[in-house]
Amino acid sequence: MKLYIEENQDTATGRALDIFRKRIETVKVLGLATGNTFVSLYSRISEDCSKKRISLKGITTFNLDEYFGIDEASEYSFRRFMEEHLFNNVDLDPADINFPDSSGDRAIAVKSYNKLLDENGPIDLQLLGIGVNGHIAFNEPGSSMDSRTRVVELSESTIKRNKPPSNRAITMGLTDILNSRTLLLMATGKDKAQAVSEMVNGEVGAWCPASYLRSHTEIYIVLDRDAASLIR
Ligand code: GLP
Repeated sequence: MKLYIEENQDTATGRALDIFRKRIETVKVLGLATGNTFVSLYSRISEDCSKKRISLKGITTFNLDEYFGIDEASEYSFRRFMEEHLFNNVDLDPADINFPDSSGDRAIAVKSYNKLLDENGPIDLQLLGIGVNGHIAFNEPGSSMDSRTRVVELSESTIKRNKPPSNRAITMGLTDILNSRTLLLMATGKDKAQAVSEMVNGEVGAWCPASYLRSHTEIYIVLDRDAASLIR
């Protein structure tokens, strides 16, 4: 585990961008995360692309999760978030972008995302955020290490924080995340401090899905001082 503790959100983004830039040339399959944490990183990646410093052409992407049963056009939709903050600004081919299907039949959606992951995986570089309750994607506390794509009920704490349009989500499982060759997790702000310390110092188990990441041999964790403030 490589742990970087930066002064603030801006310098943490700079560090994450640096790690991303160094790896992107060899990446064929890129795992993407949503959330406020990634707004500034996606903005810097978009800028890099528009200045032709990097290119995402030819890369296949997989997003981690989406609220289930919602319209893609919904203001809460993760796809819409990705379009606004990344997809519309970079040279990815739209045909290479994969998202779990949030609006169709549940069993078909799950099966087809797992099939796509089997055919294209493993993911070379997976970007990750962390929930205040230690969730990774929407693998909420209680999720097993060998979970795959599925529809889940969101936890009380996630509902309270995200105020989602649906209490269910479709999420990539921990197996596919842990099988990724490289993980880049980013967390900033005081409200992430508890979850971060449980991920780094706590007992490994389903109670804190992020704790499973400690078994990964190629994980970069980029934090600001606030998010790192409870690490022992
Ligand atoms: C969301 C997503 C996660 C994300 C996390 C943090 O609920 N399912 O994939 O990492 O919560 O989001 P934020 O960066 O907005 O705090």
